[in-house]
Amino acid sequence: MKAIVYTSNTGHTAEYARMLGIKTNLPVYSLKEAAKILENGVDIIYLGWIFANKIKGFKNAAKRYTVSAVLAVGLSNTGTALEEVRKANYIAEATPLFTLQGGMDKTKLRGINKLMIKMLTKGLTAQKERSEKDERMLHLLTHDDSYVSEENLTAFWEWYLTLSVK
Ligand SMILES: Cc1cc2nc3c(=O)[nH]c(=O)nc-3n(C[C@H](O)[C@H](O)[C@H](O)COP(=O)(O)O)c2cc1C
Repeated sequence: MKAIVYTSNTGHTAEYARMLGIKTNLPVYSLKEAAKILENGVDIIYLGWIFANKIKGFKNAAKRYTVSAVLAVGLSNTGTALEEVRKANYIAEATPLFTLQGGMDKTKLRGINKLMIKMLTKGLTAQKERSEKDERMLHLLTHDDSYVSEENLTAFWEWYLTLSVK
C-alpha cells in the first residue's frame, strides 16, 4: 500500500483520510495532488464523498491506480447502503467497500450541490406523509452536523489488520 487518496467537497472525507493517514503512516493526497506525485498503477486506499450514489473521483482513481479498498462517505449511517453503492459505482465484488457517515455543512456548498440539497429538502418538506427514513433524511439535510468518528472506521480497521497478518 502506497497512499491514501481522497476527494472531499466540504471536509468530512478529508477528515477521515487524515485519520487513516495518522494510523497507517501512509501519505495522504487529494486526487488532484496524487496526479502530480503518485506513479500510475500503485496500490492505494481511496475515499470519496457520495453524490447521488456515485463516489466522487472513484472512476478516475480506479483508472490510474490499483484501488485496494474504497471508503464512501455519505449521509446515511455507517455500514449501510453497501450493495447500492457498489452497484452504482461498478466496484468489483473482490474490492472491499466501506460506507461511512460524514455529515452536512451547507455553509460550504455552492452551485449545483447547494441547489440539489435545497430541492431535496423542499421535496421532503412538501411531502404530506413521510416514512421514518424520510424524516431521518430531512433532519440530516436541515441540521448541519458532522458524524465523523473513529468508531465509524472499525470495520475498515478489521480489514486493514488482515493485510499485515497475511
Ligand atoms: C448534491 C449532493 C448529493 C448527495 N448525494 C448523496 C447520496 O446519494 N447518498 C448519501 O449518502 N449522501 C449524499 N450526499 C451527502 C454527502 O455525501 C455528505 O454530505 C458527505 O459527508 C460529503 O463529504 P465531504 O464533506 O467530504 O464533501 C450528497 C450531498 C450533496 C451535496
